[in-house]
Amino acid sequence: MALTDPTDPKNAPLDAGPITDYGVRHVAIIMDGNGRWAKNKGWPRLAGHRRGAERIKEITRVAPDYGVTHLTVYAFSTENWKRSTEEVLGLMGIFSRYIEKEADALSSLGVRMRFIGSRGRLDGRLSKLMTSIEERTQHNSRLTMTVAINYGGRHELMRAGAQLAKDYAAGLISEEDLLSEAALADRLDTAGLPDPDLVIRTSGETRTSNFLAWQAAYAEYEFTETLWPDFTPARLEEILAGFGNRDRRFGGVKL
Ligand code: IPE
Ligand code: IPE
Ligand code: MG
Repeated sequence: MALTDPTDPKNAPLDAGPITDYGVRHVAIIMDGNGRWAKNKGWPRLAGHRRGAERIKEITRVAPDYGVTHLTVYAFSTENWKRSTEEVLGLMGIFSRYIEKEADALSSLGVRMRFIGSRGRLDGRLSKLMTSIEERTQHNSRLTMTVAINYGGRHELMRAGAQLAKDYAAGLISEEDLLSEAALADRLDTAGLPDPDLVIRTSGETRTSNFLAWQAAYAEYEFTETLWPDFTPARLEEILAGFGNRDRRFGGVKL
């Protein structure tokens, strides 16, 4: 009978804590480059998206081993509706299958799933799957995994601002609260989540494409040439290890 190897991360108990803590709590990722990856191989764009979905599964499993407690990934932006119907429907199918296939594993891995973005335009079945996995995993705390689907930072800020105005008009908040950062942050889709410490964008593009406009105001950014379907746990670990050398000042002065 094969003995269980206690040094193999796969066999670590769920409450074992990180193997190497790099001090980065919240990592956000703009998963870009699926289309180019597929094109380089002469394959349809959707093949790149399918491989991209596999990558996120691996990253979710290793993130807690590196001390990450929150992982937020950009899967579909409010601007991505401009793509062909075939690509949009294909992506929505990948999201549904991802949730269906991952639900049991994520629950048992201690992952809490959350979705940000607006649900109105999404297919009813996908939207139901999203709500059901959020409910099912709400008491998990090892890793909070947030997936941004039909998400745009500006749209989120507009919705939060409108809600704030409504609450003020209804007398639910004072004039002082109306002008507080916390009151706005509480009305964002990310309410209750810490701000990201590090935002990674793959594929060599050096823009933020409307991701976490408010929340990433003081995040560190890492832009890597790696295309998302080639992004491995080892690449994540390298980036996290480099984070420790950064001097985060938050506008102050370090003596
Ligand atoms: C990112 O990959 C995934 C989504 C935006 C859904 P892209 O599809 O943008 O890939 P490129 O940028 O065309 O290579
Ligand atoms: C950003 O990538 C959105 C996601 C990764 C989901 P895009 O490929 O849509 O961004 P642009 O068009 O290059 O700015
Ligand atoms: Mg892209």
